[in-house]
Amino acid sequence: MKILVFGATGMLGKALMGRAKDDDVVGLGSAQADIRNPEQVAEVVSEAAPDWIVLSAAYTDVDGCELNPTLASTVNTHGAANVAKVAAQAHSRLLFISTDYVFDGNNTTPYETTDPRAPINEYGKSKAEAEERISRILPDSCIVRTSWLFGPGGKSFPDTILKLAGARPQLEIVNDQRGCPTYTGDLADTILRLTRADARGIVHATNRGDCTWYEFACEILRQQGLNTVVRATTSDKFVRPAARPKYSVLAPRSLTAHGIQMRPWQETLSEYFALRAAAG
Ligand SMILES: NC(=O)c1ccc[n+]([C@@H]2O[C@H](COP(=O)([O-])OP(=O)(O)OC[C@H]3O[C@@H](n4cnc5c(N)ncnc54)[C@H](OP(=O)(O)O)[C@@H]3O)[C@@H](O)[C@H]2O)c1
Repeated sequence: MKILVFGATGMLGKALMGRAKDDDVVGLGSAQADIRNPEQVAEVVSEAAPDWIVLSAAYTDVDGCELNPTLASTVNTHGAANVAKVAAQAHSRLLFISTDYVFDGNNTTPYETTDPRAPINEYGKSKAEAEERISRILPDSCIVRTSWLFGPGGKSFPDTILKLAGARPQLEIVNDQRGCPTYTGDLADTILRLTRADARGIVHATNRGDCTWYEFACEILRQQGLNTVVRATTSDKFVRPAARPKYSVLAPRSLTAHGIQMRPWQETLSEYFALRAAAG
């Protein structure tokens, strides 16, 4: 299978490039092809002639998107539509990486793929609009929503917590946002399986189980044998430009329908820490 990855220089993109050993994979960062530029996208797709395009590229700074909604929409919505149009012309399948932030967070039970999109910030809006445009341009595309990514080579919550724990005797972490931590290596494997399964439509793909950021931090410290005191706090104590959904747990039904089950997020942390230790 020939796969072209846009966003290969990002956190998830690096995991995809590392895991796609059995496939013929070409990975591009923004320097090789800016998705805002349709000619550049057409040129690299024509050169690679991929069976699948994985579109992981995005402007992912959630607060940055809030402060610069034009950039958010130019990259995340129009850029994604550019890739979908070129994929349609080239007869390549498209797998688009989307986000739990397309939901408003008012649910109290896991979000199904059929729940309506209702983003509460500019990043979520730009990705929700991308989903809608892509579905219209390429009805057989696969839209993979994921959440709370962590892994090597990116801005990772476990790293932030360990750094803070090294510098402070006590941490305050928000306990009123609930989601599903997801390890980029596991998600990369899942994405590759979905391409082989010829998946289409919306799929929710996260590691199993959910937690708040406070609970996530406690587990990180527990697994590292650290006894730093962690106090639960609320989001209103950390005012940030973009609002975050209070609850963005994604139901796994659409993934298990493809015969795929991702492991509990707690299990992936130990693998991540082992990799981190090996890297020094
Ligand atoms: N991080 C999360 O917690 C999370 C949660 C849910 C969904 N997602 C989604 O998962 C995907 C991957 O996220 P990530 O955390 O791996 O992202 P990331 O580390 O921020 O990487 C973003 C990637 O997008 C590329 N990119 C940015 N602007 C571009 C442009 N104009 N043209 C072409 N490429 C561009 C970057 O290329 P350069 O570095 O070369 O500029 C980089 O490879 C994104 O679609 C994101 O929306 C992320």
